[in-house]
Amino acid sequence: MLFPSCHWLPQAPLEPLHLDWLKTAGIEVAVLRLDQIDPLISGNKWFKLVEHLKAADLSGAKGIISLGGAHSNHLHALAAAGKRFGFPTVGLLRGHPQDTPTVNDLQAFGMQLHWLGYGGYRARHEAGFWEPWQAQYPQLYPVPEGGGGLPGATGCMPLKAMVHEQLSGLGWADYDGWWLACGTGTTLAGLVMAEAGEHPVYGALAVPDDHGVAQQVGSIVQAAGLQRSDYQLFDASRGGFAKVDPPLLAFIEQTESASRIPLEPLYTGKALLMLKQQVDAGRFEQGTRLIFIHTGGLQGRRGFQ
Ligand SMILES: Cc1ncc(COP(=O)(O)O)c(C=O)c1O
Repeated sequence: MLFPSCHWLPQAPLEPLHLDWLKTAGIEVAVLRLDQIDPLISGNKWFKLVEHLKAADLSGAKGIISLGGAHSNHLHALAAAGKRFGFPTVGLLRGHPQDTPTVNDLQAFGMQLHWLGYGGYRARHEAGFWEPWQAQYPQLYPVPEGGGGLPGATGCMPLKAMVHEQLSGLGWADYDGWWLACGTGTTLAGLVMAEAGEHPVYGALAVPDDHGVAQQVGSIVQAAGLQRSDYQLFDASRGGFAKVDPPLLAFIEQTESASRIPLEPLYTGKALLMLKQQVDAGRFEQGTRLIFIHTGGLQGRRGFQ
């Protein structure tokens, strides 16, 4: 049984975000602190994994094989889940062997690693990529990069209910939209599916436009057979995935000291900075209420220190 029999359903607090630029614009933001659900299986990762683990169970698999980079939050959460719930994990890594805090953790959690080089990793979308790995690990169920696809998105749908249950605690009857960082767009797609057009979902892209996030979201939403959807993507990548610059770092530092909410530069920092830029540009009317999802990723911050 990969999916824990206790049906572990983590709960994240919803907290008001007090920042000067929001106050000036008359906009209220509440943060869904997915970074706080668990010390190791943190952020959106558990939600993106849940349906994959259920599918693996149904198929009779004994463990999971997946892919990611040397700072991957996804592999980190997967390896931690394997250790916690007692199933084997294998990670296929981008590039050549290197030591990073994340890689050291993966090994400590007992994940078996294979380094694919850069060309080998690029082949991950090709037909037949998984065949040799499935021959080598017939008992393991393959999960796509980042825990993506329709199962990944489906696992994120309960985030809507998690927020609804806590709205009255903020004194809110409703909200006007969601704001979150996107890598593959899976988490955003799950919210779009849960909302079915009721509230808009705004995604701040941590990767440039040419990474095909819009297409991936479109194909998940189509596969889900959704009649209505309402979402919008903004390029928040600042020139590339993992590119950081002094204004971004200064913004993170100021925001952390003003709000006491920890951020990292690749996803949550970029997403909040893009929200500020949109607020400053008058994108939202006074009185707008938004839910910002803190998607975690704080473990990856160690690689930047
Ligand atoms: C911290 C963090 N935030 C956001 C994302 C993006 O999530 P998604 O791939 O579902 O768009 C990721 C990566 O998957 C992440 O690690």
